[in-house]
Amino acid sequence: MMRVLSGIQPTGRFHWGNYFGAIRQYIDLQDGNEAYYFIANLHALTTIRDHAALWQNTIDAALDLLALGLDPERATLFVQSDVPEVSELTWLLMTGTPLGLLERCHAFKEKKAKGLTADAGLFTYPVLMAADILAYGSHLVPVGEDQVQHIEVCRDLAGSFNHAFGEVFVLPKAKVLEHAARVPGTDGEKMSKSYNNTIEIFEDPKSARKKVMRIVTDSRPMGEPKVPETDHLFQLYSLFAAAADREAMADLYRAGGFGYGQVKKALADAAEGYFAEARVKRLELAAHPEKVREVLGDGAQRARARAQQTLQRAQEACGIKAKS
Ligand code: TYM
Repeated sequence: MMRVLSGIQPTGRFHWGNYFGAIRQYIDLQDGNEAYYFIANLHALTTIRDHAALWQNTIDAALDLLALGLDPERATLFVQSDVPEVSELTWLLMTGTPLGLLERCHAFKEKKAKGLTADAGLFTYPVLMAADILAYGSHLVPVGEDQVQHIEVCRDLAGSFNHAFGEVFVLPKAKVLEHAARVPGTDGEKMSKSYNNTIEIFEDPKSARKKVMRIVTDSRPMGEPKVPETDHLFQLYSLFAAAADREAMADLYRAGGFGYGQVKKALADAAEGYFAEARVKRLELAAHPEKVREVLGDGAQRARARAQQTLQRAQEACGIKAKS
């Protein structure tokens, strides 16, 4: 059986990019696999420095994931920091991590390029992420394209540990959906909180509609045809629409004689309908916080059992513990 694992940071409410790039995959992969999904609060601490915000975001993240269809009977859902073994494993990996490898990682490089000072948490972020993945013996890591580099780092670190101490870690593979590898935001760039171009999954439909109506488009005249595949508005519409509607919209693009306002309205309608059921489910879940705590508690227990085994093997391999 394949072990699947992924993490998502509670840095704010989840957006369409998170959903189509990652969360949607979590839900599809919980059947037929041993799946672990976690809320990456230790990673979020590199950007959120506020008790109330981090705590509330963590609870909201759990509610969002459960409402969207993550099923605790089929997958293990937990909070990253509830498995301290991962932090210990991070150190074991850190001792063999070349600085150059981390210097090449996007998040750090971008911050440095902007002349901002980065802390050690941001710099070593990919090592913690590697420990997350390796602790559970994960084969497959469903993510958006922006995380692929980190999974390559993870493979490097696992490979060199194995080379030094014997076969302890499984080398994971990233799983990226071609059509949702990089979901565009309202400005056409990658949808991301740091670009301030997101539309949230559980945003009030009126506010989501407003943002859709403000999506940046080119100044193509009404009558002119357009290639649908390269248009970010069409890309967004495609994520929500049924196949027949998507085709009809693509035909409209190719024929010309349409306005972007019309496409935006169709997108806002499709998005509202798409998340309607999850919206109701979220309200129900939010009324029972004790159940959510129970889910996370059970998840942590299951996740820890698996991480403890891996940590023990790693400790024995490198001489921190006697070989059993
Ligand atoms: P994070 O929290 O930034 O994003 C969570 C997931 O959403 C995906 N994503 C997108 N996919 C497509 N288009 C977009 N516009 C878009 N924006 C975000 C991300 O690729 C990601 O899959 N470092 C990770 C969290 C993490 C993790 C892990 C992931 C910590 N440990 C172990 C996998 C395995 C992160 O910051 O994701």
